[in-house]
Amino acid sequence: MEEATVAHVLVFPCPLQGHVGSMLKLAELLALHHLHVTFLNTECIHNRLTRFGAIEALLECYPTLHFKTISDCYNEGQHPGSRDNSMGDITLSTTLHAKPLLRQILVSENPGTPKVSCIIQDGIFGSLAIDLASELGIRIPIIHFRASSACCFWPYFWIPKLFECKELPIRDEDMDRMIRNMPGMENLLRCRDLPSFCRPSSQGNMSMDWVALQTKQSLEADALILNTFEELDGPILSQIRLHFPKLYTIGPLHHHLNVTKATGILSLRTVFFQVDRSCMAWLDAQPQGSVIYVSFGSSTIVKREELMEFWHGLVSSKKRFLWVMRHDLVAGKGNDDRIPAEVEEGTKEKGFIVEWAPQEEVLAHKATGGFLTHSGWNSTLESLVAGVPMICWPYFADQQVNNRFVSEVWKLGLDMKDVCDRHVVENMVNDLTDHRKEEFLRSTQEMGMLAHSVSPGGSSYSSLHDLVQYIKSASQ
Ligand code: UDX
Repeated sequence: MEEATVAHVLVFPCPLQGHVGSMLKLAELLALHHLHVTFLNTECIHNRLTRFGAIEALLECYPTLHFKTISDCYNEGQHPGSRDNSMGDITLSTTLHAKPLLRQILVSENPGTPKVSCIIQDGIFGSLAIDLASELGIRIPIIHFRASSACCFWPYFWIPKLFECKELPIRDEDMDRMIRNMPGMENLLRCRDLPSFCRPSSQGNMSMDWVALQTKQSLEADALILNTFEELDGPILSQIRLHFPKLYTIGPLHHHLNVTKATGILSLRTVFFQVDRSCMAWLDAQPQGSVIYVSFGSSTIVKREELMEFWHGLVSSKKRFLWVMRHDLVAGKGNDDRIPAEVEEGTKEKGFIVEWAPQEEVLAHKATGGFLTHSGWNSTLESLVAGVPMICWPYFADQQVNNRFVSEVWKLGLDMKDVCDRHVVENMVNDLTDHRKEEFLRSTQEMGMLAHSVSPGGSSYSSLHDLVQYIKSASQ
């Protein structure tokens, strides 16, 4: 058996479900390779994971995995990613709160634990670790990890060039104009498929400039990790490698972990919400491929009118559906943000509502035949691995680009971007599950096979091995 090494990796995610979930999976994979790993969480996130049993289970499983927490400015009713906190606010305040502890961790000596010899930081924090290491005069590898897709990382990086060649800024009337000047993606993205902050209507402090700056700062990192695999994103990865030669593609991370551990589905581990498993018994009672799973991830907010359009469309399609309705899914104040009684009542005949589902298990269930999704990157990968076709209704950030790739490049589903109409929902559900069912069955099965990149000999398997060797050799 492989011995524990002197390599000690500090892993630091942005405190949002999609980021913490994927970076924790990375931390588990590193611990499985016997590296010491310290996972840095905000208190709010740590408390949530503790409450739902994740921390205890992880500590029991991985003797070389440890947790440290930084204080944050959120309380329980105000979890990061909720409507009150923009991505920019979260990132800024986390960075600020993290600095003193990071300094302390980097210089401290603890008997029995090797000194931190590598930092894997969420790329969204920009130059945080690089600046700190240089301030302290420490020379260790600093690796950036992006929780979002490769197909979105590339447009993020290319934003300044799009300005130079006058493809940006865009006006409201430009939404269907093709973007021509992006290597590897020429005439593929319409303006509406660009990351959401490129839109004229984009608000908040996660601005285009800020995203472009953070992405550029990854050039100063020693390496970059992306949660994808060569067979999925080869052409884009060749473009990215021209600028980021030390690139590790080790995804799909959840699949990689499940295959490596060979213990089945582990999605209960990193939940921020109480999982309602009652939907599994309901799914067991449904015919094969008959259910549309509806979930918009951890932070999408829908207007009440939009919720009603989706609901009417699903009901009219006469298909069964399982819908994740978080308590904070619907926009509004007071009682306006409640799930309307007619929806709860009217769903009973053909559908089932839960506040949070064991998503990986739901997607892998034989009754699940389609996924109405917000195109978050983790959800996209989970659907792809499970071979479930998607109807994409993206909300923000990378999701617009992911959606375009799902429908136009990988042919794994349909694009419902910028439309929320009950007839469109009904038609798309019927296209996905009836009229175009065979076509999607073929493409999802083919893609599911490619995701075996995580098995021994596959591209992601080798890339993870290379990453571990790199970290170990830099720690000697
Ligand atoms: C965010 C961004 O939206 C996403 O685009 C980015 O790439 C990563 O961070 P989020 O919006 O939460 O994440 O979506 P997604 O990336 O799809 O992650 C959601 C996770 O929650 C998935 O792993 C999914 O399995 C899990 N989930 C969701 C559940 O376990 N149960 C549910 O009921 C819903």
